[in-house]
Order: sequence, then C-alpha cells, then structure tokens
Amino acid sequence: MKSNKKQWKVVITGATGFVGSNVARRLVTDGWDVHLIARTESNFSLVQDILKAVTIHQHDGTTENMLDIFERVKPNIVFHLAALFLAQHEPKDIGPMIKSNVLFATQLVEAMIANGVYCLINTGTSWQHFENKEYNPVCLYAATKQAFESILEFYVETTPLKVITLKLFDTYGPNDPRNKLFTLLRNVAKEEKSLPMSPGEQLINLVYIDDVVDAFVLAAERLQKGKVEKHEAYAVSSGTPIRLRDIVDIYSRIIGKDLPIEWGGRPYRNREVMVPWNNGMQLPDWQPKISIEEGIRRMELSND
Ligand SMILES: NC(=O)c1ccc[n+]([C@@H]2O[C@H](COP(=O)([O-])OP(=O)(O)OC[C@H]3O[C@@H](n4cnc5c(N)ncnc54)[C@H](OP(=O)(O)O)[C@@H]3O)[C@@H](O)[C@H]2O)c1
Repeated sequence: MKSNKKQWKVVITGATGFVGSNVARRLVTDGWDVHLIARTESNFSLVQDILKAVTIHQHDGTTENMLDIFERVKPNIVFHLAALFLAQHEPKDIGPMIKSNVLFATQLVEAMIANGVYCLINTGTSWQHFENKEYNPVCLYAATKQAFESILEFYVETTPLKVITLKLFDTYGPNDPRNKLFTLLRNVAKEEKSLPMSPGEQLINLVYIDDVVDAFVLAAERLQKGKVEKHEAYAVSSGTPIRLRDIVDIYSRIIGKDLPIEWGGRPYRNREVMVPWNNGMQLPDWQPKISIEEGIRRMELSND
C-alpha cells in the first residue's frame, strides 16, 4: 500500500522493536521523512537496513529533552509504539514499566502539544479487555496501557489533539526476536527436544506483521484526512482466533515436521486469555489479507 502523503514528517517511538521496525521500514519505503525517538539503551539491530534513511533522536529521559526534540523536529504525526511488555511482573518491574508506558508516553504528548503537533497513533492491547469487558486488564502491563489512554483523554479534551489507538493482538512475521510462540516452536523443531506447554485449548488471535503495518498506515491516513474528531480506538484483529493446538498443527504441517509438544506439561497462566476480546471496532477500510498458512510460509521462508 503506497501512501500519497510523501511530504509528511513522522516521529516513531519503539521503532527498534518488532512492530515499530516494520512500521518504520514501510514509511521509509513510502517516502516519509522518518524520525525515531530512541533511548540510550536502545538496540538498533532490527533497523540496521534503514538507519541511513532515518533521523535518530536519543531521549535522555527528561521532559525538557522531549520538548527540545519536538521543537527541532515538529513532525506532522507521531506513531507511539514504545512500551515495556511483561505478561507477569515482579516488584522490581514497576518502576521501569511506569517509566516506559506512562511517564515517557506523557512526556511525548506534552511535547507534541507544546509544539502544535496534534495527530497521534497510540498502541494499545487486546489485554485491556479480559473476558470481553469494557476494561479489565489481564496484567499490570495492560493496566499501564489503560492508564495512558486515560491521560490522553485530558489532552484530547483540552487541546486539538486527535488520537487513534490501535489495539493489537498477537503479531508474527519474519525476524521476530521476541520469545513468543513461533520462536519456541522453531527451537523445538531444531533441537527436537520436547516442550511442555499448557493444555492448548486457548484461542489465539494472530495477525501477520504486514497486515498490522497496513493498519498503522491507514490510521495515519484517517488522521491526515481529518476524519478523527477526538480519540478513536480500534481492534487490529484477525477476526478468526485459532486454538493453540491447531496453530501448532498448522505450523508442523507447513515445516513438514512433527513437534514433540508435551500438552498439559505446564498449567495455564494465571488469567490466561482463553477467548480473546472480540467486540472491539475494526478500523474502517482495514482487513487482514494474510491467512495463517500464508503468514507462516512467508515467515519461515524468510527466516531460512
Ligand atoms: N506485538 C504484539 O503482539 C503486541 C500485542 C499487543 C500490543 N502490542 C504493543 O505494540 C507495541 C509494539 O510492540 P512490539 O511487540 O513491537 O514490542 P517490542 O518488540 O518489545 O518493542 C518495543 C520497543 O519499546 C521500546 N521500549 C521502551 N521502553 C522499554 C523498556 N523498558 N524495555 C524494552 N523496550 C522498551 C523499545 O524501543 P526503543 O529502545 O527504541 O525505545 C522497544 O524496541 C507496544 O506498545 C506493545 O505494547 C504489541
């Protein structure tokens, strides 16, 4: 999908991560003027190929520095993807999680407003909606996403800020360094060592990375066209959640290898999501195009 807004200047946070690096690559390819806000500890390995095509601004953690960055860049739009994700937390994680998911995010919006930047794409999670509730966080990470959405309401009500929050489910694709399902399955296939898993009856909503990136680009176009009044939130859902056991079967069929999974070898997680959130609004004009079979094929081919 080619954007026709080549002159737009964008700031992306979390561009060194799995989703953010793919979003950044697409925007560079489409001719956007791409600026990344990174941290002193950022690892740029996923964006090596586009480093020469982007401008990096290293944030030192302070609000003043964020204000300086925005005064210099003055982008048209911000894509906010930076976050610390933890399915379960320990007491030592509270500081870093609040710092990344609430403090940094609030500094970002404050600096946007101070510099007349009024278009934001924020990234939420389906885990804000445990058991299909309007709000019921699966874990503290999901609660921090909700906390930032509440903070956004203040800015939306008191300034011209327009926001689209895209709530993601599970994402997958090539070059994914995260320790998620397919990384585990790939290792099991390689090492042929048995892997204890939960009983595997939970439904998983998997969206291929190119479809996720399409959603970000479409959301940006919606903001550019002035279609957003205040704050809209959308689910970026495959529409067809699949049982974990079935995903493993599909994966195993595609790579042509039986996987030694020990089903029930570990219990379900506390507050395991058995049925993902399914009553969120879909982003207008967006539909996932890549089936799970096609997505796994593409992923495995490029990981070879
Ligand atoms: N992928 C999914 O399945 C999924 C599902 C639901 C929601 N989401 C949301 O989508 C966004 C992108 O997710 P992702 O899977 O691409 O995440 P990821 O690979 O973990 O990348 C997240 C990025 O956030 C930044 N960050 C800020 N504070 C951090 C910290 N304390 N520790 C580690 N990284 C930190 C890092 O970028 P810098 O170093 O450049 O700052 C990092 O590369 C996040 O907001 C996430 O919550 C993702």
